[in-house]
Amino acid sequence: MLGTSWTAERRHEVPGQPAPGTGIVEAPDSVMTSDPSQPAPQATDPKPTPTPAPPGGSEVPRPRRRPRYSGRNPRRFEERYKEHDPTRYLADAAKIEASGKTLAGSHRPILVEEILGVLDPKPGETAVDCTLGYGGHARRLLERVTAGDAPGRLLGLDVDPIELPKTESRLRALGFGDTAFVARRSNYAGMAKVLGELGWGTADVILADLGVSSMQLDDPQRGFTYKQDGPLDLRMNPQRSPSAAQWLATVGEADLQGALQSGADEPHAAVLARGLVRARAVEPITRTRQLAELIRSLLPERSKEDQDLSVRRVFQAIRIVVNDEFGGLDAWLRLLPGCLGPGGRVAVLTFHSGEDRRVKQAFRVGLDQGIYSAIADEVIRAGPEEQRANPRSSSAKLRWAVRAAGNS
Ligand SMILES: C[S@@+](CC[C@H](N)C(=O)[O-])C[C@H]1O[C@@H](n2cnc3c(N)ncnc32)[C@H](O)[C@@H]1O
Repeated sequence: MLGTSWTAERRHEVPGQPAPGTGIVEAPDSVMTSDPSQPAPQATDPKPTPTPAPPGGSEVPRPRRRPRYSGRNPRRFEERYKEHDPTRYLADAAKIEASGKTLAGSHRPILVEEILGVLDPKPGETAVDCTLGYGGHARRLLERVTAGDAPGRLLGLDVDPIELPKTESRLRALGFGDTAFVARRSNYAGMAKVLGELGWGTADVILADLGVSSMQLDDPQRGFTYKQDGPLDLRMNPQRSPSAAQWLATVGEADLQGALQSGADEPHAAVLARGLVRARAVEPITRTRQLAELIRSLLPERSKEDQDLSVRRVFQAIRIVVNDEFGGLDAWLRLLPGCLGPGGRVAVLTFHSGEDRRVKQAFRVGLDQGIYSAIADEVIRAGPEEQRANPRSSSAKLRWAVRAAGNS
């Protein structure tokens, strides 16, 4: 990502001014925090100099100190102030990325060149990025559809109210004004409605990069990670109920077992469902660490490695239910053909066999019915180099389809 720095190529940026169309003033030295539950931007001067009081004696805010942490390097998400501000700490950020890690508070887009290859976005075309995330794919699509000042445009959708304004602001700062780029907080199952409201009709290019972003995954306050303690939340849109803790408090044992099987093929689904339902009667399960420890304790005969795999699978299964990920994908696949213009291209990146199965099936049926004129024969996967540089790419599967010209 740093190779295509978000700040180095800004086109019409005015530092400290609201990015056009967003009303959001980009924080001068750090990641933006539109949500009070997010860690505050970290100041970067380890030895702040005292600020002289101005004439008249009114108080001047003290410069923020960098966070204190034990050891040589910060370990906690919110302490990683250099990663939250990679444009200031270019060399450190490049070193971290070269080691295969994703900078805290960012997301590395996966299979970018392959996606551009199959979508083939052309100047002047209309694109939809159904899962805007950090905007890595959207930026590359926007560069293509607006090349040479062509009147191309991109609609970016995301359900995440915390990350969406930050991403919109970043893309505005790169010079994509509100004619070229529209950001909407919406489930991608609402894509047809939003396209209709905008009067854009159909799209030439549609991308969906499913699952969660690294920003969501890495921030313990969002409750997606069991590696650090946090509230058991797991919602991409925290404004919608229920959270994972609320769902786990009331779900029946049989439904829990079914969710663990369908969402993660969990081999110990029955034991875990029974054990978790018993455990919650003693104490509500509200924290990520608490759930992870409970799962390990319910599988005492298994190796530590097996236990950790079950922890990972249970978190994934609960995330899929809480965000209704399969329901949203099914609805989106049904409305997709109506959103693609003749010859329009769609690419879908999945990270889970249940998602890939749905996409593969919908594309096959669409091909048989003449809705699509061509579909991917095989999935496209990240090569060894990308997998090494970004381990999160290793489970990604890319499929594509082309809308037939004469079928509605
Ligand atoms: C893997 S990330 C996308 C990363 C993005 N391609 C990039 O380059 O930064 C997935 C994003 O999809 C969003 N998302 C997941 N399910 C969604 C849905 N049903 N509707 C809209 N957005 C969704 C998540 O909030 C997350 O931001």
